[in-house]
Amino acid sequence: MKSLFNDLGVGVGLRPPHYAEIKEQKPKSISWVEVISENFMAWKDSPMAGAQENLLQIRKDFPVFLHGVSLSVGSVDVLDKNYLERLKQLVDMVQPAMVSDHLCWTGVGGENLHDLLPIPYTTEALNLISQKIDQVQNFLGRRILIENASTYLEYQASEMSEWEFLSQLLAKADCGLLLDINNVYVSSVNHGFDPKTYLSHLPIDRIGQIHLAGHSTMDGYLVDTHDHPVCESVWELYRWWNNEFGPVSTMIERDGNIPVWAELESEVQRITEVRSEKKLRLG
Ligand SMILES: [Fe+2]
Repeated sequence: MKSLFNDLGVGVGLRPPHYAEIKEQKPKSISWVEVISENFMAWKDSPMAGAQENLLQIRKDFPVFLHGVSLSVGSVDVLDKNYLERLKQLVDMVQPAMVSDHLCWTGVGGENLHDLLPIPYTTEALNLISQKIDQVQNFLGRRILIENASTYLEYQASEMSEWEFLSQLLAKADCGLLLDINNVYVSSVNHGFDPKTYLSHLPIDRIGQIHLAGHSTMDGYLVDTHDHPVCESVWELYRWWNNEFGPVSTMIERDGNIPVWAELESEVQRITEVRSEKKLRLG
């Protein structure tokens, strides 16, 4: 089945410690960069002109993916119009290759809790969230990607598995999936399911991007901290996924203990190696 999204190769989550290398060296190891949308959105008391100028400079050399953390499609609150307007300004300015946010809620009653909180997998939530994604896509005039967040609890009210919910949501909202394989792994260990069952039940044609990241272990749970290299179990899952379903735009996501560029670049290069394994076999 033909994918709704083009494979744009290998990317990286761009963070301030690496701006200089990316701008000056224009590394050949990456084909695109992803940035956190909120770090470049203009606020009333902060026009973000300096940050936006940096981003536009990088945009001259690399396609940019915009990744948000505050859309809160899982909240019962109505969508924040002011947030959407500022996001649209950024989208119009950057002309990103992809725009994404998470399957979660980040607040209620106008409060932002600055966390990616889990939702119950119910028909009621499915209807609410698909309507909201539809509103966002209509407002932005483009299809967006929704990322599976890692979770640390499950609701007794859930009526279906996360992968069933996601599959239905993607079709109902006509949006794409940003598949975070580390998040699938973290949740699979925390809740005791088989990550390959999850991955093999997803609609492949709607997967527009893959995240690979590291996690931490705390009190017997895995936590999606993005402060370690990608673990071998996640690389193994990615290799399996790539062999089964083919290449999708993939990146390393690192937010804590950020290493020097050369070290992060070696993880990025490993994505290229894994992606080429299938080509080599076919060749
Ligand atoms: Fe992610």
